Amino acid sequence: MNKIFADNILQGKVAFVTGGATGITGGVARAFARAGARLAITSRKEDNLIAQKQFIEEAGGECFAVAADVRDYAAVEKAIAETAAHYGRIDIVVNGAAGNFLCKANELSANGFGTVVDIDTKGTFNVCRAAFDELKKSRGQILNISATLHYLATPMQIHVSAAKAGVDAITRNLSVEWGRYGIRVNGIAPGPIEDTEGMKRLLMPELRDKLTKRIPLQRFGKIEDIENAALFLASDAAAYINGVTLVVDGGQWLLGTSLG
Ligand code: COA
Repeated sequence: MNKIFADNILQGKVAFVTGGATGITGGVARAFARAGARLAITSRKEDNLIAQKQFIEEAGGECFAVAADVRDYAAVEKAIAETAAHYGRIDIVVNGAAGNFLCKANELSANGFGTVVDIDTKGTFNVCRAAFDELKKSRGQILNISATLHYLATPMQIHVSAAKAGVDAITRNLSVEWGRYGIRVNGIAPGPIEDTEGMKRLLMPELRDKLTKRIPLQRFGKIEDIENAALFLASDAAAYINGVTLVVDGGQWLLGTSLG
């Protein structure tokens, strides 16, 4: 149980979380449930959804799970409509669905580049767009998970850097366009977070010590560090915060995200 925040700070809220079954956004979904929110989670993988739903329900939370690929607008629209029908409202949308792999730019296919942009950037737009009517009704909010890769330059990550730069642009644009409806739109840019699929995919074990020394706080982040940032931004404590992408990386990006 997270004791940094008062219990039930999200009581009565309904949160729709993409990529909400595993990894960083899986942790955010569980933290929101502990804080009193009723959850809707999506993922492409049914098995992961079932396990997360069971985990949240066994801990006393509510979880509605619906399989959807964020690249498929019709599937996203259906997932949002089913969530609204199930709970009667949607207050918080978290865009966490993402794709990643390491590849040199000169070896990356056009489809490889486009696939990651489609999942991260277009997927984020699709979910925000499909959720707009519900968020307008609830005067709700959006939390987009991006990265720091594009602040400088990160070799072998051109596709993800471009995709996450697009996500940050969506955060800023929607915060301006939708602020008038009472919808806050913010983001979180995590640094290296341990125990995630991303770290397994992206970091060769022999480079772990080298990377740790390049993080000013001298440690990897924990999923809980991102959960705390998400709880803060989603809570009324952040009621006047709009259009911000909060970097949660121990100061890593200031020294560059490349190990080369
Ligand atoms: N290196 C280079 N290119 C790669 C690649 C790799 N490791 N993995 C996939 N690609 C390319 C494929 O070759 C293909 O391009 P092509 O048609 O020109 O050959 C393109 O990317 C699409 O691959 P595909 O496997 O068909 O896509 P998918 O939709 O099934 O999967 C991915 C999407 C590629 C992002 C996959 O890694 C994934 O599903 N990731 C989800 C989980 C994840 O990445 N989590 C980490 C979050 S930080």
